[in-house]
Parts: sequence; C-alpha cells; structure tokens
Amino acid sequence: MDHPLARLTAEEIRAARAVLQGAGLLTKATRFAVLALEEPPKQEVMAFAAGDPVDRRVRAVLLDSDTGQSRTVLASISRDEVDQVTDVNPAVDGQPPILLEEFGAADEIVKSDARWRAAMSRRGITDFDLVCACPLSAGSFDIPGEPGRRMLRVLSFLQHHQADHPWAHPIDGVVAYVDLTTREVVDLLDQETRPIPREEANFDDPGYVGPVRTTLRPIEIAQPQGRSFVVEDDVVRWEGWSLRIGFDAREGLVLHQITFRDGDRDRPIIYRASIAEMVVPYADPGPVRYWQNYFDAGEYLLGQQTNSLALGCDCVGDIHYLDVVVADGDGEPREIRNAVCLHEEDFGVLWKHSDLFTGSAETRRQRRLVISFFVTVGNYDYGFYWYFYLDGTMALEVKLTGVLFTSSYCDGDEWASEVAPGLGAPYHQHLFCARLDMMIDGVTNAVEEIDVRGEPVGSRNPQGNAFVPSVTRLTRESHAARVAEPALARVWHIVNPQQTNRLGRPVAYALCPQGQPTLLADESSSIARRAAFATRHLWVTRYHPAERYPAGELVNQHPGGAGIPRWIAADRSLDGEDVVVWRTFGTTHIPRPEDWPVMPADTCGFVLKPVGFFDRNPALDVPPTPSAG
Ligand code: NI
Repeated sequence: MDHPLARLTAEEIRAARAVLQGAGLLTKATRFAVLALEEPPKQEVMAFAAGDPVDRRVRAVLLDSDTGQSRTVLASISRDEVDQVTDVNPAVDGQPPILLEEFGAADEIVKSDARWRAAMSRRGITDFDLVCACPLSAGSFDIPGEPGRRMLRVLSFLQHHQADHPWAHPIDGVVAYVDLTTREVVDLLDQETRPIPREEANFDDPGYVGPVRTTLRPIEIAQPQGRSFVVEDDVVRWEGWSLRIGFDAREGLVLHQITFRDGDRDRPIIYRASIAEMVVPYADPGPVRYWQNYFDAGEYLLGQQTNSLALGCDCVGDIHYLDVVVADGDGEPREIRNAVCLHEEDFGVLWKHSDLFTGSAETRRQRRLVISFFVTVGNYDYGFYWYFYLDGTMALEVKLTGVLFTSSYCDGDEWASEVAPGLGAPYHQHLFCARLDMMIDGVTNAVEEIDVRGEPVGSRNPQGNAFVPSVTRLTRESHAARVAEPALARVWHIVNPQQTNRLGRPVAYALCPQGQPTLLADESSSIARRAAFATRHLWVTRYHPAERYPAGELVNQHPGGAGIPRWIAADRSLDGEDVVVWRTFGTTHIPRPEDWPVMPADTCGFVLKPVGFFDRNPALDVPPTPSAG
C-alpha cells in the first residue's frame, strides 16, 4: 500500500489470514472476532514521505469456539511474520467482542433448552419459530460460576407472523444466561408472568400506518456542475479541508489527518478522529434487566454493523459512496457496499449584514461537507455525521433512530415509560465517546477550560454589569477529567502554546459541549467501573499509540477499570504535550409515545470551532449566490 494509514484491502485481509495460518495459529475452531489495521505510531506516520516502504501490520483477536480460549495477535503482512501472540485471560482481560454468528447460536441454544421452552409454554407460546431471542451482552456482575465463561443474556420477543415486528410483544420475565462455548443455558430466570402486549406496530405495513399523506411535493437537490469536493485514494479535499478516510471494524468511520488550507499552509487540526466507544446503560434495577448495558463499539463492533446506504433515501444530492471491507468470523473479507456517504449540503446563512450607514447589504450562504455512515445494532439504528463548514467549524452529530427496547408495562412500573397499551420502554442513556487526537498546528498542544462568570459588584464593577471569561489550564491528567457547565458557558480550548495568531495569542480550537448528563448510574455500580469514560464529559490524556479505546481493548464482560482510569493513574503532564481529547456526549432517553413504533431521529454531538486559529473570518471569500430575483 502506498500510505501507512490506507484502509485494509480485501487482498490484505486474505494475506493476513495466510500469515496467521502459516504460523500455525488457526484451527478449524478459530474464529476472528477482530481483524484490523495496526496503525503505525503517529511519529512514524508523520515522518512518512510518498514512496517510503510501509510495514503493513494487523491486529487480530482470535477465539477458539471449542474451548473459549482467546488470544491477540500482531502480525506483519509485509514481512509475512507474526510479531506477537498474547493469551487472554477472560476473567481479567475481558472477552473478545460478540461475533455476528453468535446471534444465531444464542437463538439455537435457548430454543433447545427444556426450561426455556417450558417457560414459553407457560406463557401460551408453542411456535418457537415466532420467538425472537435477543443476544445481549452479559456485562460483569460477579455471578457465581460466570467469570471466565463466554456469556450472553437472552430476552425474548414474540412475532404474530414472520413480518410482525417482535419489539411490540416482549415476553417479559424470562432471561436465559447462555454459555456460548458449552452451548448451554447455564441459568434461566423465570420471574413473574406478565401479559405479552398484543397490539402490533408494523410501521412498514400500510394497513397499520393508514393512508399516507399526499401533500408533500418533491424537493430535488440540483448540483448542475457537480460536487465541489474531490476524493483521491481516500483523501478528501473540500474548500480548504483535507482529510483521509479510514474504516475500522470496531469504530467504523475514522478520519485521519484533518487539515485546513490557510494561505499557502495546510494547517493540522486533528490527527485522528473516531467514535472509540459507546454504551447504552438501562435504568431498570429489577432482576430481569439490571444487567442491560450495551457497548455497541467494544462489544458489538460498530463497523461490523454498518448499513449499505441507498441513494435518494439515506442520502440526497451529488453523492460519493465508499465501499468498505471488514473481516468476517472466518477472517475472510466481507464487503459492505455504499458504506460511507460523502456529500455537500446547503446550510442556510453563513454571514449577513444590512448596514444602517453605508447601505451595504451582503449575504453569504453556509455549506457543509457531510461524511457519514449508519449502523444497526439490534433494535437501534445510529447515524454518525461528521460535518465540515466553510468557516473552519467542524462537528459530529449522531442521529439515533430505530425501535425502542421494550418491556411489558404494568401500572406502577417505575423504570419505564408506557409507549403503547401495556408496552413499556425502559429508561436508558446513549453515551458516546469520541477520541480526538488533536494536533492544532502541530503536536505540541494544551487544553484550557473557559468559564464565563459574572463579577461581583465592587470598585472594579460599580454597576454590577461585568462578566469575564476565566481560563484554567488543565496541566495534568488528574485535573483534566471534566464535566460540562452550561450555566457557565463552559468550553474547552485546545491550544498550541507555541503558535500564535497575528494578535500574538495562541491558536486554538474550542470544543463546545451539549448540556446533557454523564452516566447516571451510581459510582459503585458495575457499569460505572466498566464505562468510567462516561462519568465525565471530557478527559485529556498524553498520546500513546496503544491507548485507543476508553473502556479498554476487550470490553465484553470486562470487570472494569481498563482504559482511561488506568491510563490517567500515571497523571502525565499535558501542558505543551501531544494530547488526546476524549469527549463523552449523548442522550438520556425517557421514551415518549411519539418514539413508538419507530423513533424520529434524535440527535446529539459536539462542535469544534476555531478560536483565534485564523486571523479573521476565514469565509470572507465565499462569493455571493446570485439572487433568484
Ligand atoms: Ni434511546
């Protein structure tokens, strides 16, 4: 490959498998839970010049499906060598992520279990083909006999027929604890028998929806001269912005080496940006659901769940799609067509002024480049949209849609909303963690927290009107675990203390948070240990190439403490260093009836805005749009 960060190709995936095969690491029972590009350390990539030799390496997590043993492997395709093999102790290190094929296995295992069948029969269910067994990550709860076993927990839903959406009919009260290695139900919880909600909710059935409205006239996006961006070997260039597209089975879309052209310089902003983890913790403390916490990246692999997008439905305008390749459970390439979507959108007014004195009246229109992908993880669907604007702003927006996870609702239930008659939707959060390997005009960066505070009345402020931003440098990792304070307009500036603008001040980008809670689970809970990243809105760490995932490498059934809490125990200095910013954001979801039977997209995210990065408004040269008359 010609660039060290180039995406793994199908040929490279096959070659990687062959290297592992040649080293005797594969048997008939070997499953590939992960096969990913092992990116070279940042300094190596930055020193790379076109034509330099590249050592293409992969990282694999291998699972022996007969024994449940697993190991991680580092290997070089270029050198045809295995560099490192590490055995995993699952009770301590966690389990490999859940494989797609294990979804089917869980279904078979519960349906062949006599206790589970009896529990269904007691609820009047006899046709098990109409039961959807949901393969849910098990978490880590000190349940006797569980540590070290590869577990899933299974909740079940009923269909009235094969096209009936099962989420409308939760079979509440029954949980199967499944061992995927011994292929048995090790425990079956059969709690109180609750009524199974009857009402169907088939939003794709015209009979359920009723007549569709006829009042919407077409909106067509016309780009008669085509798009304004170019994509060449995964490098995207648009209106000063430049970046390289990457794709990973775990994180999905990765953006590398984001720069902005300013005069004759390509100025770095971010070295690498991705969604490094996300977790969906549920609030119901009862025996049926207390364990519900899904790490959709670390346990289910966002990239593996990526949709193929459809022109005109998912994306409108002049679209450029990228196909991606991930490795399947056999370690063979699996292509996902139209996985990443690139397009431009009009975004209303960029700047405008009608002047009282000069009579000048100027308007410019904002536009953004959108780079997105969509995943489906069970009932939920998530769209990840990176936006790049003409004025140097960039943003990430996550769109949350799909179908609520449901329960049987009875009067007095405290931990769920009733969304349809007798149908509950347990309260939950969706918490994402973006890993932003910052590089504001170079790797020597620092992070400042800016609060705006009113001044008390005094000799400096006799009329009491004064307010002023106060700046706190977050100099060490132990000081850089922060929460948002919307009432103080709190933002975090990532500055380069060695680079100044024409006003002599350090160049910076501001990270602007939304005012949503962090993890609401108690700090003593299992999920607070396992998803410590979600307990703060911001963390800053010193760059280290192995520090990739905020909840650790193997999240599935991990007992907790890995990732950010372990790294920051070193309390490294952050002042004028190569820093990585970890930004937790998300929604706290108290479901509404309007979220049923399919949820209008909710959004969350963050914005990165230049603050003294440019010497003036960088979008003055946007030409006026001709008036339509
Ligand atoms: Ni939700």
